[in-house]
Amino acid sequence: MSTILSLETSCDDTACAIIEKKNNSIHVLSNVISSQTQIHSQNGGVIPNLAAREHTKNILPVIENTLSQARCSIESLDALAVTIAPGLIPALLVGTTTAQTLSWLWKKPLLGIHHIEGHIYANFAPKDENDTVIDSLRFPLLALVVSGGHTQLVLMKEHFSYSIIGETQDDAVGEAFDKTARVLGLPYPGGPEISRLAQEFRNENGNENIIQFPRPMIHSPNFHFSFSGLKTAVLYTVKTYRKENNLSENDPLPKHFQKAVSAGFEDACVDVLLSKTQKAIERFSIQSVLIAGGVSANIHLREMLKKCIDEKFPHIFLRLPQKDLSLDNAAMIGIAGLLRWDLFSDSEKQKASTLWKNLEARANFSLEDYAHTMK
Ligand code: KG4
Ligand code: ZN
Repeated sequence: MSTILSLETSCDDTACAIIEKKNNSIHVLSNVISSQTQIHSQNGGVIPNLAAREHTKNILPVIENTLSQARCSIESLDALAVTIAPGLIPALLVGTTTAQTLSWLWKKPLLGIHHIEGHIYANFAPKDENDTVIDSLRFPLLALVVSGGHTQLVLMKEHFSYSIIGETQDDAVGEAFDKTARVLGLPYPGGPEISRLAQEFRNENGNENIIQFPRPMIHSPNFHFSFSGLKTAVLYTVKTYRKENNLSENDPLPKHFQKAVSAGFEDACVDVLLSKTQKAIERFSIQSVLIAGGVSANIHLREMLKKCIDEKFPHIFLRLPQKDLSLDNAAMIGIAGLLRWDLFSDSEKQKASTLWKNLEARANFSLEDYAHTMK
């Protein structure tokens, strides 16, 4: 049995979790998040230094709470894990500095985990006692990474091995959701709100009369994405609507129009994501598919992906993360850390016991480069 305590502070959530692995099954003993969404929604986005100040306030109470909820003693921990990249440097530094200090103080080995690796491994949290996800996985595996900062197709031939076969050439899909929400006058973060309005539109209108937005790069002969053109198309649609309806920049948009744009925008995003995913499944003889990152909470994306796999690739093992583990959390960092820890040789474990001396937080760090440094 191994147990790990993990921290995640790469953006605006101060998070800590304790994960245990017994035989081949993973248990999330506690998973605590202190969210700053309310603070940042007043600014329409995350301000890094403000996020860091809040992390500093919250991190020790969050850790204390996590330990007590798990009824776990410090002695029973085998290791600590923390997000080292990518993210906002002032925010990341609060987590890494805390983890380094605790590693030194408690004499526990430390692992630095990549945020996107965490999102991918969030899928391996069991949904119930009979969930044998780790045993059911087959490689090659394709991860569709869709977050506020990333949109990537990641090919995995085995655990912890990553090839980025396609990625966005401009905005990330989550960023496009947030920007579209802003243009529509909806609160930050935009993804959940757009998703809710799009769902209402579909319930009221079916799939008829959805505004047709462009599907950038859908036919390009590669696995890359682009979302900035789609965002601009939304902007022009809203501008034209305001002009035709004599609405000034500050006038609120009517609900029915917000719903129609949300549904059209979401449809275009999902279409492009699924089309490239499908192409990659065929090209790389994929055996398992999963989605990772905040946008994986999107109901329409989840439903359409499931429909696509059920109808076209019934042999594929499809995994969708639990909704509360789609968004940023520390359980995902702990799961990745624990599975890595279990594969470590004695010398790697030894190295982890002095990592507190030279752990480095990085704003940008590709998943592939990170994986090389962990070898
Ligand atoms: O993974 P995440 O929590 O943070 C990053 O690593 O970036 O992702 C946050 C992103 C935001 O852009 C947010 O608008 C989006 O995920 N998001 C959603 C939904 N929930 C969160 N996008 C679409 N539909 C949702 N239900
Ligand atoms: Zn994230």
